[in-house]
Amino acid sequence: MKNIVLYGGGNIAQAIIEGLIKSGYKTNKIFYIDRNIKNQKKLKRLRVKKFENYSSEKIDLFILAVKPKDALNAYKEIITNYKSPKIISFVAGIKSKKYLKINKDIQFMRAMPNTSSKFNLGITAIFNATFKEGNLKKVKKLFKNVGIVLELDKENKIDVFTGMIGSGPAYFFYLLKSYQKKLMYLCHSDQKMVNDVMVNLIKGVGSSIEHNQDLDELIATVASKRGTTEAGLNSFKSLKLNKSFEDGINAAIQRSKEISNEF
Ligand SMILES: NC(=O)c1ccc[n+]([C@@H]2O[C@H](COP(=O)([O-])OP(=O)(O)OC[C@H]3O[C@@H](n4cnc5c(N)ncnc54)[C@H](OP(=O)(O)O)[C@@H]3O)[C@@H](O)[C@H]2O)c1
Repeated sequence: MKNIVLYGGGNIAQAIIEGLIKSGYKTNKIFYIDRNIKNQKKLKRLRVKKFENYSSEKIDLFILAVKPKDALNAYKEIITNYKSPKIISFVAGIKSKKYLKINKDIQFMRAMPNTSSKFNLGITAIFNATFKEGNLKKVKKLFKNVGIVLELDKENKIDVFTGMIGSGPAYFFYLLKSYQKKLMYLCHSDQKMVNDVMVNLIKGVGSSIEHNQDLDELIATVASKRGTTEAGLNSFKSLKLNKSFEDGINAAIQRSKEISNEF
């Protein structure tokens, strides 16, 4: 992919742009369309260009990164002003057929990235509707710059992905709040130290999984008979923590499905 335009330059667009720039993507190949002054300022700092005129540049890819309420109008604007555009939608909830009903000859696909793309640790699910094989390959390569790519074979799996991975970082931030509270006491209210401890805890967990994917074995490396970890784990088990966590994920998946039906 050469020139790309992000239509909507908010949270997720900025995460993708930062990740792309870190991976070596040239800033003069990244354009944005955004009306929000705060976001415009942030994008200016990232040195990407405002997209001013549909006829002035050859654009290889348009990415829809606006809220669902703004998505179909943005899509219509692109297809009215640019001949045969290739469009990816990051927008949750609105299915491919809605866009293709407006124009079925567009190369269109959906992608669901997450904000960790900013650190090139993203996980992007893609579902291809009408992209040609060669262009699909280019899209995968683009998103591999910011993390890993998971191609879905059914569009409704995007709801499962959104509930688990799109929302996923927030679940871990939420769980870490319990740590933060106790760490403040442990670290004499030194916020920087509290953050460093949480970062190493999470990074260490990630690295451990990189070396051994068996989660029970990893648990066994920490927990010993009648030890502290076992006491903690037994309490979690009796409180059915796993079940609560799975129920939470399922609620998010359900909400994603509901949103899909609202459009
Ligand atoms: N955030 C995530 O982690 C994430 C992850 C995966 C997918 N997504 C999807 O990505 C989409 C964007 O989410 P977000 O959190 O990045 O939203 P956001 O921060 O609100 O960014 C959207 C931006 O687009 C601008 N915009 C909307 N319509 C416009 C128009 N017609 N012309 C110019 N600018 C326009 C908005 O301006 P105003 O503020 O003035 O409206 C805003 O600055 C959503 O559909 C969401 O489902 C988000």
